[in-house]
Amino acid sequence: MKTDRQMKELWFKFFEKHGFKRIPGYSIIPENDPTVLFTTAGMHPLVPYLLGEKHPAGEKIFDVQRCIRTSDIDEVGDDSHLTFFEMLGNWYLGSCPKEEMVALSFEFLTSKQYLGIPIDRLAVSVFEGNEVSPRDEVAANAWLKCGVKKENIFYLPKENNWWALGGGVGPCGPDTEMFYITDKQPCGKACGPDCDCGRYLEIWNDVFMQYNVASAGGKAEKLARPNIDTGMGLERTIAVLNGSKSVYDTGCLKKVIDFIESKAQIKYLESEKAKRSYRVITDHLRSSSFILGDERGVLPSNVGQGYILRRFIRRSVNCARNIGFDVKYFADIVDIYVDEYGRDYEDIKANRAKIKEELIKEVERFSKALEEGHREFEKTIKGIERHKEFAKEGEVVENIISGKAAFRLYDTFGFPIELTKELALERGYGVDEKGFNEKFEEHQEKSRQASAGQFKGGLADGSKESARLHTATHIMLAGLRNMFGEDVYQRGSNITPERLRFDFNLDHKMTAEELEKLENFVNSVIKQGIPVTCEIMTVDKAKASGALGIFTNKYGDEVKVYTIGDVSKEICGGPHAENTSELHHFKILKEESSSSGIRRIKAILD
Ligand code: ALA
Repeated sequence: MKTDRQMKELWFKFFEKHGFKRIPGYSIIPENDPTVLFTTAGMHPLVPYLLGEKHPAGEKIFDVQRCIRTSDIDEVGDDSHLTFFEMLGNWYLGSCPKEEMVALSFEFLTSKQYLGIPIDRLAVSVFEGNEVSPRDEVAANAWLKCGVKKENIFYLPKENNWWALGGGVGPCGPDTEMFYITDKQPCGKACGPDCDCGRYLEIWNDVFMQYNVASAGGKAEKLARPNIDTGMGLERTIAVLNGSKSVYDTGCLKKVIDFIESKAQIKYLESEKAKRSYRVITDHLRSSSFILGDERGVLPSNVGQGYILRRFIRRSVNCARNIGFDVKYFADIVDIYVDEYGRDYEDIKANRAKIKEELIKEVERFSKALEEGHREFEKTIKGIERHKEFAKEGEVVENIISGKAAFRLYDTFGFPIELTKELALERGYGVDEKGFNEKFEEHQEKSRQASAGQFKGGLADGSKESARLHTATHIMLAGLRNMFGEDVYQRGSNITPERLRFDFNLDHKMTAEELEKLENFVNSVIKQGIPVTCEIMTVDKAKASGALGIFTNKYGDEVKVYTIGDVSKEICGGPHAENTSELHHFKILKEESSSSGIRRIKAILD
């Protein structure tokens, strides 16, 4: 029986032994990439390095990265889908020694000291080849050489064995995936890892990032310096190794399910609906704890990440209602998660109180909306009754709440359709569910488009003060790179109307002279009164122009590039000041360590 902790420790021990350097995982809120809401894979924050930037920790690195993926949010509640997961990853930056990586993967998977999977239970898939990239005999032969049986090596097409980021833009390439062979018999002659009968369960993926797609719809171009990017979903792998049917039967998730069961009126396995409700609460409150507890913390709102967070919390409230679970216990669930994950993630530990506070506030806001919804429901019923009273001769007014009215209850007051149906039933009414579903789908499409657009914004509050500090941040980064070289990057940025806070990589504490020099640099740029210009251009062009930033874009190939004379050029969502003279005077308040190899500056404009 392997636990999350044992598994992480094995991962760390193994890669350390093989000369890889551990890097800290990144925030769950990506920066410099206005195109995705959350960090979705271990490689995501590493894109600049996969495209050739030098990584301060060297060329062989590994980590554990917290990830959120919301594309399958409606599937959460089945055996395998989660919105939050931890990904174990390792990388070769700037080289692609396939045989070496295959041999490492084989050792980790099969060695008794590590996962100890019997060779007979191991199947792998490799890329079958196409016009872009050849059949991957190198990987296949490497597996054979390790001792994987020939009949357990499968050649599969692009749909299975090609990995790229969500929007298809960025570094990509063929991969080799590893599967655990269960006791299930093959479902037919063609049964293989590409089949979902359950015989083959994926546990690890080694991506050979030999190509890059620079803009949406663009061609995959060979990377001058290819890389290897691997990823293993922690809970999924543990569930497979433990022979658990579901990820919710493992570790911390199991603990939360058990806790809910000790307080709820309806048992976990009493019905399919109950099971799903338990699981949604378990999953969504974990994601919410990570979002609220992140160093770049986001609060519930109607846009971007805040909207997803709101959805997680409100959905949990609805599910709690389904199983007779009092929402006051949400705070205890946060405690279970913070106790577990605080060991690996400092920010969630430090923000325990804040997570609970904001969660409770949102639950209260939602309760209020629901109360108003009850009043609205009564009005709807009254409306129908009146209609009946004044109906023309021969006109039949049915006891049905229209799809439109049910959707308004849902959309404006947060009434789940189940609640509307239940209340309607008590009054002898029905609900036009088909009409509701039509409206619902229409709305989903709209909000998909909107959230793609909304997030292209930038600073959370959009105030003039924040915009000025944002511009100061760009100038300061330029100054740091002038002083310490092009290996210095932004590693975090948090701006309020009062101050900026900026994290960057540097191997030493800045001296008083260095701080003064940096301050003088920024102030001299302010004095020169340089206009700040913004251009929208393709990712290709931005890249060619030397703009800093991450070149992945999920929703089309255009990005904003902010330029401050010849001082700075960055891909950025904005907003910014129009001219550096608006910044008046820049002052550094503090320079301190943020984490290993990362420094933090706090500064103001006065
Ligand atoms: N980036 C690869 C994945 O997410 C390893 O599967």
